[in-house]
Amino acid sequence: MCGIVGYLGNRDGLDVVLSGLRRLEYRGYDSAGIAMPVDGSIEWRKKAGKIANLAAAIEQDPLPGSGVAIGHTRWATHGAPTDANSHPHVAGRVAIVHNGIIENHDALRAELDGAEFSSETDSEVAAHLLGRELDGGAGLVDAMRAVSTKLEGAFTLVAIDAQDPQRIVAARRNSPLVVGKGDGEYFVASDVAAFIEYTRDAVELGQDQIVEITPDGVSVTSFDGGPAQTKDFHVDWDLEAAQKQGFDWYMRKEIFEQPKAVADTLLGRLNERGELVLDELRISPETLRRINKIVIVAAGTSFYAGLVAKYAIEHWTRIPCEVELASEFRYRDPIVDPMTLVVTISQSGETADTLMAIRHAREQHAKVVAICNTNGATIPRESDAVIYTHAGPEIGVASTKGFTTQLIACYLLGLYLAQVRGMKYGDEVAGLLRELERMPEAMQGVLDNQQPILDLAAELVDETSVLFLGRHVGYPVALEGALKLKELAYIHAEGFAAGELKHGPIALVSQDLPMFIVVPPRGRDQLRDKVISNIAEVRARGARTIVLAEAGDDDARAQASTFIELPRVSTLLQPLLAIVPLQLFACELATVKGHDVDQPRNLAKSVTVE
Ligand code: F6R
Repeated sequence: MCGIVGYLGNRDGLDVVLSGLRRLEYRGYDSAGIAMPVDGSIEWRKKAGKIANLAAAIEQDPLPGSGVAIGHTRWATHGAPTDANSHPHVAGRVAIVHNGIIENHDALRAELDGAEFSSETDSEVAAHLLGRELDGGAGLVDAMRAVSTKLEGAFTLVAIDAQDPQRIVAARRNSPLVVGKGDGEYFVASDVAAFIEYTRDAVELGQDQIVEITPDGVSVTSFDGGPAQTKDFHVDWDLEAAQKQGFDWYMRKEIFEQPKAVADTLLGRLNERGELVLDELRISPETLRRINKIVIVAAGTSFYAGLVAKYAIEHWTRIPCEVELASEFRYRDPIVDPMTLVVTISQSGETADTLMAIRHAREQHAKVVAICNTNGATIPRESDAVIYTHAGPEIGVASTKGFTTQLIACYLLGLYLAQVRGMKYGDEVAGLLRELERMPEAMQGVLDNQQPILDLAAELVDETSVLFLGRHVGYPVALEGALKLKELAYIHAEGFAAGELKHGPIALVSQDLPMFIVVPPRGRDQLRDKVISNIAEVRARGARTIVLAEAGDDDARAQASTFIELPRVSTLLQPLLAIVPLQLFACELATVKGHDVDQPRNLAKSVTVE
């Protein structure tokens, strides 16, 4: 939520920051702005709307050249998305950009008598507080330190001082910030995508730290002035991975990247004895053998991945597994203790609700494993262990390859627990792994057969409501299919457990209402037969049935207005395939409707406020 970039070096700061903002635009696109120190004062431009608006404003009213600049792309929290509420906020000689929420901004505003505010944002108080510290004689680092300790809430702040033009200072608490180190040039940004064009060497920061960047290098200290722990890392993807590569949308590109993302996430998980190894899982087998409960905590699409995981983990390990929305978790006083394994799932690794859930779980002495796609992010850093998904950067706001690679990581975790606890023999684990390894090819098969789903999207462009049904692991797939459609096509879409239909939702079924139904493979006939009966029930009431079932399932085909064929796989793994046509459908329907698929209204990729 909100993207921040700062640059110090020999290039044109405007170019670097604008290109960085474009790569971070998925984090928020309500407004954008840029500031730089020029001849003893701050020069800035800011504009409501997307970065294109800012670029046009700069073209009309050019900024001077500078090797130091900071920029921001906003997801509005306090104050409407107007020019005035856009960042940077300038107070005299200082300019700041901010990500997060300053919870005590009202109290701080009241203390700042005499300050002239030009926005309704919480962020502007930080600019005035810094300005006062500088006017009182402090340097930018000390000023930032003093201000940071006054702020409550979550913040990444990046500041420049017109009278000290070769310095950028940033502070972070509960909000993302990474440093990029190039050859004689330095970057600060909300994520590495902003500077990947220039360097892949990055520094992961800890909580409550202050970063100072000058032409001499980077120095990091803690809020109390003491030494700070940081970790250098190398980004394992390049600029090409962050580009559209001929696709109309990042989302479509990312849907098509799924076979590779899944294969990459599976890579190197077997040792020479054929056993499953999870190198990054820094929790001992003894501890894992003592676990008596698993609680999966996540938000949105990642939560739905967790719902699928529950079926697999309970089946393979016989450990009771709960799945909880991160935003609800700590507020219901959950029963979590040292025997509980908390598994958090987060593509971005920065979701504030999930992060707070982790802190709560660790306070109860539970062990926390994070499933995450982002190196250097806060969630893996604050967890006891991590399983990285290797999906590469996910830039489309709607998660796709994030979801399927999370499923893979969950399956791996489930199998690993089954292995260490002796619930599965080695050959059983190896057999399931071999089946997982065949999934990229099966997914490719679904992608190669995309035309019927694209045609369907064009046909259904004027629909105002679409329902999704599934049972067992098909139920979370239905929920995820509905979420994709809501967020991209802005229409009513709901997922139901197929068996629940008769308990109420069937009243929604009307003539020609489109209903997607995920049919389980024939290996679980009892389950599948029930779903086929559910389709017959809605068909009898006039619904238009779009049936996703395995190839050769003629009973399912007989109930289908449109039949979407899936390759034959075992029931627990079917979500990896069944979700793909639903992703394609939502992407295509939104495209046909003329919506911005990569940047749906009101959303942001990384939700760093609770
Ligand atoms: C929907 C979507 C969101 C995220 C959710 C959690 O397409 O992307 O629902 O899944 O905001 O995000 P992460 O996984 O980054 O914690």
